[in-house]
Amino acid sequence: MEVKIVKTTSPKAKPDMATVPFGTYFSDHMFMMDYTTDKGWYDPRIIPYGPLEIEPCATIIQYATEVFEGLKAYRTPEGKIQMFRPDENAKRIKNSAERMALPQMDVDMMVDFMRQYVEFEADWVPSDPGTSLYLRPFIYATDPCLSLHPIHEAHFCIIACPVGNYFPDGLKPVPILIEKDDVRAVRGGTGYAKCGGNYAGAMRAGEKAEKNGFSQVLWIDGVERKYVEEAGGMNVMFKINGDVVTPQLNGSVLPGITRKSSLEIVKDWGMNAIERLITVEELIEAAQSGALEEAWMVGTAAVVCPIGELAYDNQRYVINGGTIGEVTQKLYDDLTAIQWGRVPDRYGWNLVVK
Ligand code: COI
Repeated sequence: MEVKIVKTTSPKAKPDMATVPFGTYFSDHMFMMDYTTDKGWYDPRIIPYGPLEIEPCATIIQYATEVFEGLKAYRTPEGKIQMFRPDENAKRIKNSAERMALPQMDVDMMVDFMRQYVEFEADWVPSDPGTSLYLRPFIYATDPCLSLHPIHEAHFCIIACPVGNYFPDGLKPVPILIEKDDVRAVRGGTGYAKCGGNYAGAMRAGEKAEKNGFSQVLWIDGVERKYVEEAGGMNVMFKINGDVVTPQLNGSVLPGITRKSSLEIVKDWGMNAIERLITVEELIEAAQSGALEEAWMVGTAAVVCPIGELAYDNQRYVINGGTIGEVTQKLYDDLTAIQWGRVPDRYGWNLVVK
């Protein structure tokens, strides 16, 4: 399908990459495409970035019918542009859309649209160390009707913002609050889908954590209320007695692409990487005995973020003396070297755009 182009007549200045906060400054254009049950997906176009026109009664506004992705395009030392595992994002948004009864898009078609969009916005991919162009593809339903019914109309959109570090302090261990009251997901719910609603329901706990000086929460499962699941905006990993351990994908944990990539990398180093149930009790005991040697979070936006301290039931447990662990640092170095093309792409993960 041919992508129509409407170029902006007022290109913006590029932001100062040393100071631009994550997700606040957008490129000149966005990608849009429409869907109806009669026509399927149609009219792909790259148009100037700007406000969306939407009916107040649209399903997205009333019932949060939306799924999204996050991925990055990187500038290599030779000046090339590459995207990290866009096929994985395209597969995941398809699964998320299926869960939310939103229209799905063919994986290859979506990857091709993302590639064309990044190619068009190429001069927005920054080259300063540690920077990238963060892409936010999303699908939302626009049926102009308040009754609950299957979705007939939707849009697919991609916006992009040049980003530096997700956390203003960079790769620095952060304190995390294990959330005891609110839950993020339940069995049979939408936990594995990347849908806006999962994050909306998490805002109250996130706000409470931040007010108390924590970076974000660590969620516990919503059924038995004892298994660790994921952090506020990222998956979580631990080094316990020499092994890398992460909560298994049980339907309520997001199948993170950085999670998946990290597991492959540490296995290649020869470490045991185990996906299993982890109870809060086990984690706290391991923190007390010193068996919990390292803890970190993984996600597209922040890549790898060390956890320096866990708080639970008004007790605080410092991990690795509050410093970055060896495996955490090595994983960050190895993964980001692949993403920025500083080392050969031994897994074939990158899609070279130009
Ligand atoms: C990402 O890491 O890309 C995410 O989607 C997390 C987001 C909520 C900032």
